[in-house]
Amino acid sequence: MAKRKSSWTPLQIAVHVGAFVPLLLIVWNFWQGNMALLINPFQDVTFRTGKAALILLLLSLACTPLNIVFGWRQVLPLRKPLGLYAFMYGALHFLIFIVDNGYIGSSVDLMAVYEATFEKRFALVGFAALMILLPLAITSNQWSMRQLKKNWKRLHQLVYAAGILVIIHFIWLVKSDIREPLVYGAILTLLLVVRIPLVRRFFVDLRSPKKNKPRIAADNA
Ligand code: HEM
Repeated sequence: MAKRKSSWTPLQIAVHVGAFVPLLLIVWNFWQGNMALLINPFQDVTFRTGKAALILLLLSLACTPLNIVFGWRQVLPLRKPLGLYAFMYGALHFLIFIVDNGYIGSSVDLMAVYEATFEKRFALVGFAALMILLPLAITSNQWSMRQLKKNWKRLHQLVYAAGILVIIHFIWLVKSDIREPLVYGAILTLLLVVRIPLVRRFFVDLRSPKKNKPRIAADNA
């Protein structure tokens, strides 16, 4: 009997396992009672989920440039799971924000959540980024791809806008030292620059001038 080929590569398994590490660490810290020692455990979890969402979003956006620059086609299937995990952490991040700002007694005061989200500009752009990621997450399946046809690609190009908004969110929320968000901003800029057709062509030609010419279209994936 023919041996069935495993559908998941070690890289894919590493991504799925690695994506849960920040969440498992938070659960572990709660379990161990370490969070109770913090002055503001909600803020700590907000930071950690926000950072995880940002890093996963950047990793998702890095897959295409890695293929362009190094020809690593094996990273292309990772774009979707990384993007979905970024959304998962972004949603969790907002959920914690809701609980932190709106949970009074035994119910959630939606007005308090609304005010907390809309009165601070950093929260507002974070919310806008999440609202962009939401339809992308919902339509990240074969059925939506078939239904939306060309519009699917157009819609999913909004992920760059989400990335830019998250960087603005980060810059606006830090009070003084903006070096860390600027580093993430520089990484995002680099990832976007590689996608510019002229830059893309330069790298594809550099990798293998003759061999890759007919494959440029495939590299556009
Ligand atoms: C849904 C709307 C969002 C709200 C209301 C929100 C709110 C917050 C708040 C309150 C903080 C902590 C600020 C502080 O205490 O000084 C924060 C930090 C952060 N958020 Fe958001 N956020 C939202 C969406 C997002 C999204 C979608 C991402 C990423 C995809 C994100 C990434 C971050 C990052 C990277 C930090 C900083 C973490 C750190 O300093 O270690 N946020 N956000």
